[in-house]
Amino acid sequence: MSAGSANPSLAWVGGRFVPWQDAVVPVEDRGFQFGESLYEVFPLSAGKVRLLDEHLARLRRGAEVLGIDHGIPEREEWLAAAARLMQADDIQEGLLYCQLTGGTCPRSHHVARRPEPFLVAYLRPYRFPRADIAERGIRVITMPDRRWAGCDIKSTMLLPAVLARREVSARGADEALLIGDDGTLREGTSSNVFLVFGRELVSPTQDAHVLPGITQPLVGEVAREAGYSVRSETIEASRLADADEILITSTSRFVLGAIELDAVSLRDGRPGPVALELAAGMRRRFEIS
Ligand code: PDD
Repeated sequence: MSAGSANPSLAWVGGRFVPWQDAVVPVEDRGFQFGESLYEVFPLSAGKVRLLDEHLARLRRGAEVLGIDHGIPEREEWLAAAARLMQADDIQEGLLYCQLTGGTCPRSHHVARRPEPFLVAYLRPYRFPRADIAERGIRVITMPDRRWAGCDIKSTMLLPAVLARREVSARGADEALLIGDDGTLREGTSSNVFLVFGRELVSPTQDAHVLPGITQPLVGEVAREAGYSVRSETIEASRLADADEILITSTSRFVLGAIELDAVSLRDGRPGPVALELAAGMRRRFEIS
C-alpha cells in the first residue's frame, strides 16, 4: 500500500488473516445492532507495537464488564498479528484498530446463550504529531457532556462524541472539553485533559464519566521525570480559565496544548512550554525524530 488513504490489504478477523474486502460484519452482529462492542487503538512506531499490555488490559476489563471476554488472543498472538499486518503493507508507523463485539445470533436484547465474540483488527499508516504539530496547538471549546455514565469502558457507542465533533468543526475548533451537569470537567470527545498550574499537572478524577486513557499516565510519567508533580482531583470547569496551560492527551495526538478556549486566544495563540516539553518527551518515548 503506498498512499495513506489506500485500504489495508489484510484484516485480522477471528484469528485469521483475510483480504480487506472479505472483512465484513454480519447484519445480526450484536455490536452493529445493539452497540455491544468495544474498541482499542494501538499505536505502532519505529516498527514496534507500543503499550500493548496496557491497551490489552483495558480491552479485557471492558470485555469482562460486557461478558464478551471469551477468546481474546494473548499478547504473543497480537504481536504476531501486528507483525504480519505491518509486513503486508510495509508500515512502520501506524494505528492498529481493533473492535470486539458480542458476535452474531438472531436479534434479541437478551440471549441466554451468548454467541462467540467477534474480533477484528487492521492496521493503517499514521504519522504521529511531530514538533510542527505540537507548536501549532489546538483550539478547544467547552460543551455539556451528553454521553452515558459508562464512559470508563471504551465502547463504540460514539454517537454523542461524533455529534459533538461536528459542532467542534462547525465552530472552527479542534476538540471539545466535556462538562458534567455538576459543572465539573471530564475529558475531551476523544482525549483526556490535564490542567497545568505552575509545576503541577492536574487531571479530573477517574470515574464512570472518564475513559482511563493509556496516554495520560504515560504523559504523567514523562512529566514526573521532568520534575513536575502530577495528581487527580475534581476540577470545576471554571478553573479552566485560571490554568497556565490546558493539555489534551490521546493515542493519536500524544499531548497537545490549547491555544484557544471558547474562541478566546490563550498565551498569544501559542502552546505553552509544558505542552511542548511533554510532546518532545513523548516523541522520544515513541522513537520519533
Ligand atoms: N480515543 N477519552 C476518550 C473519550 C477517548 O475516546 C480517548 C481515545 C481518550 C484517550 O485514550 P488513549 O490515551 O488511551 O488513546 C480519552 C481514541 C484514540 C479514538 O477514539 O480514536
